[in-house]
Amino acid sequence: MTELGVGLISVGWMGQLHTRAYRAVPVVYPELGLRPRLVHAADTAPDRVAYAREVLGFARGSADYRDVLADPAVDVVSICAPNMLHREIGVAAARAGKPFWIEKPVGRDAAETAAVAAAAREAGVATSVGFNYRHAPAVERIRELVAAGTLGRITNARCVFLSGYAAEPNAALSWRFRREYAGSGALGDLMSHVVDLVRYVIGPITEVAAVSTIVHPRRPVLPMGSGTHFAVIEGGELGDVDNEDYAAALVRFAQGAVGTLEASRVAVGPQCGLVLEVYGTEGSAAWDFERMNELRVAVGRGGAHAGYTTVLGNPHLGEYGRFQPGPGIAMGYDDLKVIEAKKFLLAATGGVDAGASTVEDALSAAEVVSAAVASAATGAWVPVPRPAPPRQPASRKAR
Ligand SMILES: NC(=O)c1ccc[n+]([C@@H]2O[C@H](COP(=O)([O-])OP(=O)(O)OC[C@H]3O[C@@H](n4cnc5c(N)ncnc54)[C@H](O)[C@@H]3O)[C@@H](O)[C@H]2O)c1
Repeated sequence: MTELGVGLISVGWMGQLHTRAYRAVPVVYPELGLRPRLVHAADTAPDRVAYAREVLGFARGSADYRDVLADPAVDVVSICAPNMLHREIGVAAARAGKPFWIEKPVGRDAAETAAVAAAAREAGVATSVGFNYRHAPAVERIRELVAAGTLGRITNARCVFLSGYAAEPNAALSWRFRREYAGSGALGDLMSHVVDLVRYVIGPITEVAAVSTIVHPRRPVLPMGSGTHFAVIEGGELGDVDNEDYAAALVRFAQGAVGTLEASRVAVGPQCGLVLEVYGTEGSAAWDFERMNELRVAVGRGGAHAGYTTVLGNPHLGEYGRFQPGPGIAMGYDDLKVIEAKKFLLAATGGVDAGASTVEDALSAAEVVSAAVASAATGAWVPVPRPAPPRQPASRKAR
């Protein structure tokens, strides 16, 4: 059994979820012989540090993330801080020689993502990024159908993330709504997932034309480290929203297809509506996160069964069989994070796992998002820089 000391930076929604995922890895993947140990958690909110120690079970807690990186018992680190801290903490983790699993969008813009990627490359540490939706079994299957040519030549794709987390005009003005803390709004928060999904399934994007809007320009202020992503405040002090609530983009893929992408945090109706549709000359496939366990596939243009067939989750799709013994039993969002934790720990101990994301993927997604930001400002098509070749260094630092 390889014991790995885990450090956690920021104990908000994602910090708590990463912790649950680490705990699940030895249970879901016993043959790997990896046993994460919860060593040291940091957050600037004292009640979250207390929660990390008393409830989550971390041995030590600190107010300063640097204490986590300096702790010799910490072998791997989860970076779950707000976006404005990603560059500083990501670079510091790389320089400390700690493999790190960092949440998307990895910084406020492509320049910050590039700094984190460069530091990781230079230090030779393994990385992982919170692009959890690519691990959904239905998404893995769509990727396989595209790669095998079952859908024919891919002509176009539609991918949208229409979320309602800020549809309520009194939804709190958390760090997400301020350029200073988050960078872009729906583009960085939600479009980054959309871009990763279509890149993962179809391939690189070369050019973008985008529009963006702010729908609710003022919201009640929420202090950092309090409330949740979904908090609503009645009658509070109002502050300005200065990043976009909604964005849409037309894109061209390197392999010749075109696509339409959308992201909204203020949709009324869809709640967490991440939808991927891929169209080819011989077939199509579609998936909707709100119906995560259903894959819709159409193969062939005619016949009595022309059109979509719905396939329920089953052990032939992705890593479904790790979580459920037979078909039709629902997996959930948290399970995608368990898959991601496994891929990260494998990479951190010198292993390789297909479909693992790295900060190079985050950089590729950030380049597309930055091109969309630039296009939305000027109205012009904006080229996307060529992606760096993917690389996952083999770092092994375990006890
Ligand atoms: N992969 C996904 O599906 C997904 C979902 C939600 C959030 N995210 C990403 O995860 C990251 C965190 O989001 P969240 O929803 O967990 O945020 P959150 O607001 O729930 O938690 C953020 C935490 O960071 C702490 N913090 C603030 N400043 C700090 C500092 N200097 N040092 C240490 N901790 C500090 C806060 O006190 C808070 O506990 C963001 O980058 C976000 O985009 C990803």
